[in-house]
Amino acid sequence: MASQNIKYIVTEKGAPLKEKVTPIPTDIGPNEVLIRLKAIAVNPADVKMAYQGHRVTSWPLVPGFDGSGIVDAVGDQVRNFSIRDEVLANFIPGDRAASFQNFAVVQEESVAKKPITWSFEEAATLGVCYYTALAGLGIGLKTPLPFLKDGPATGFVPSSALVLGGSSALGAATIQLLRLALPDCTVLTTSSPKHHSRLTNTLGAHRAFDRTSTTLVADVKEASPASRGVDAIIDTVGAGATEKHVFETFDPQGPKKYAQVWTGDDEIKVPSGVDSVLFRSRDLSQIQGVENMMGSLQNLLEEGKYKLPLPVHIVGGGLGALQMGLEKMLKGVSGEKLVLVV
Ligand SMILES: NC(=O)c1ccc[n+]([C@@H]2O[C@H](COP(=O)([O-])OP(=O)(O)OC[C@H]3O[C@@H](n4cnc5c(N)ncnc54)[C@H](OP(=O)(O)O)[C@@H]3O)[C@@H](O)[C@H]2O)c1
Repeated sequence: MASQNIKYIVTEKGAPLKEKVTPIPTDIGPNEVLIRLKAIAVNPADVKMAYQGHRVTSWPLVPGFDGSGIVDAVGDQVRNFSIRDEVLANFIPGDRAASFQNFAVVQEESVAKKPITWSFEEAATLGVCYYTALAGLGIGLKTPLPFLKDGPATGFVPSSALVLGGSSALGAATIQLLRLALPDCTVLTTSSPKHHSRLTNTLGAHRAFDRTSTTLVADVKEASPASRGVDAIIDTVGAGATEKHVFETFDPQGPKKYAQVWTGDDEIKVPSGVDSVLFRSRDLSQIQGVENMMGSLQNLLEEGKYKLPLPVHIVGGGLGALQMGLEKMLKGVSGEKLVLVV
């Protein structure tokens, strides 16, 4: 049994992770859950915080948004989780709620049970991309969200949508949520060709296109209903900042809805007539029913309706490997999630 909590902190912008030994938290609030981390996934946002100080208001900082583990203690009003449950959760960088440590404390609402058939490593990759994809649909496009308990039942229903960056974690989650939310919508996506079969056969995109193809615009239009062009684009990688031709895939007579994830850079400027909305996970509270998002994810996982977005790439074992994870993420990944086994 562990008798202490080892956390990995960044002391200032650009500094390498440093080990800090602290007591295991005992001050568990009534609605809180103490999780002993078993696997931690690295996100681009961890790198942006640690290396660029992106959105950091004070140092030192414990990074980490994603992880899975075992419930070690629960507050006296926690109803849905018990000690020894295997769970995944949404963590918050800062200190006690961050995932780059052995033990973290999060709100019950941020936790979902891990299906027995999923490994901790797989489950650790689910949180950020799922809830940001939810923001893409619920805030960016304002679609109905029928899979979300008490979520919006009505909204924008495009006949086709192009997901830019289908092999990113966010893109892979977005494809799946689009298929669940809008069963009649033609879902198209872009990525490197090596990922196309996963994006179509496993995740459900109708067609995937080489993101560097010189015939991309014509190919997307041809694959859209009546070859008119798409009604909506969800840009999960900020491609529209430099690849302006993607806006030519819109149906000229259609609604031209463009949902762009906030990458930390300036908002992407769009051609006139394009209806652009920036989405980011910190605005999730705008979505009706969002308090049920992890419960709804748990149901989707149990029913086999939501698949592992991307294959897991294990970067190492032990918290000491987190630095390697950050450095690997800094160089960029292609169609995989970097995970560390605790
Ligand atoms: N604001 C928020 O709340 C929030 C939350 C989550 C994520 N984000 C941001 O969303 C972005 C995606 O995050 P992520 O974790 O999903 O990233 P990721 O998995 O690390 O993204 C890597 C993938 O991006 C693809 N890609 C890069 N440029 C592309 C382009 N021009 N067209 C198509 N695909 C492209 C690559 O595709 P190929 O290898 O196939 O070429 C690669 O598979 C990041 O900027 C992240 O910071 C923001």
